[in-house]
Amino acid sequence: MPEFENAMAVFRTDPSYEVQHIRGFLDERELKNLREEVAAIPREALELHEVKKFGRLIVHDWPPFVAMQAKLVDFVSELAGERVEPCYNFLSLYSRRGVCEPHLDTPSAKWTFDLCIDQSEPWPISFSSIIPWPEDRDALVEDWRAVKEARSHYKIRSLSLEPGEALLFSGASQWHFRDPIPADGRRAFCDLLFFHYIPEGTSELVQPRNWARLFDVPELDTIPGIELHA
Ligand SMILES: [Fe+2]
Repeated sequence: MPEFENAMAVFRTDPSYEVQHIRGFLDERELKNLREEVAAIPREALELHEVKKFGRLIVHDWPPFVAMQAKLVDFVSELAGERVEPCYNFLSLYSRRGVCEPHLDTPSAKWTFDLCIDQSEPWPISFSSIIPWPEDRDALVEDWRAVKEARSHYKIRSLSLEPGEALLFSGASQWHFRDPIPADGRRAFCDLLFFHYIPEGTSELVQPRNWARLFDVPELDTIPGIELHA
């Protein structure tokens, strides 16, 4: 459907984009304030559904982080090379079982701003270069396998963050992963904030539940799961 393809092209990323590493993003005082904000989150607000797969507790759209994300719109737009607006965010508290398998995110994470709050030691994250979106499911699975087995033809780059540093990558167009957190039986942890941004003006389009209406294709509403958050 060319109309759909054309509309979704806004979520593709310029193939020449390189991950941006922002050193000294937060100063000591800002970092201290942020850590206090994290420590003040009540235990009952922590979501447990990713403990098994990722070894992490998460909190979505915590109000102080929503406010912080909104303030960064100009900064992230500059880094991304296009005007953006906030989408969702979450805090991720990785434990000694922390791991993140290679994956691509949905277009709602076209731009992912990953900020390190605290950690036991640096924990590298790896990225592929910008990939063209796979044409079908088999191609996607093969692409994923190649990244996982370290035989991908895409350039893979690893970066480590220090607390107060951030990265901006394109989560929907770059395979990304973290190997198991270096634990050595000691207490290992990594507290990260993920702010997701989308191109300005695409908040309706990014949600699959809106596609039936936007493209006048009622059949789309019959796809299982299409009502879910992207
Ligand atoms: Fe991701």
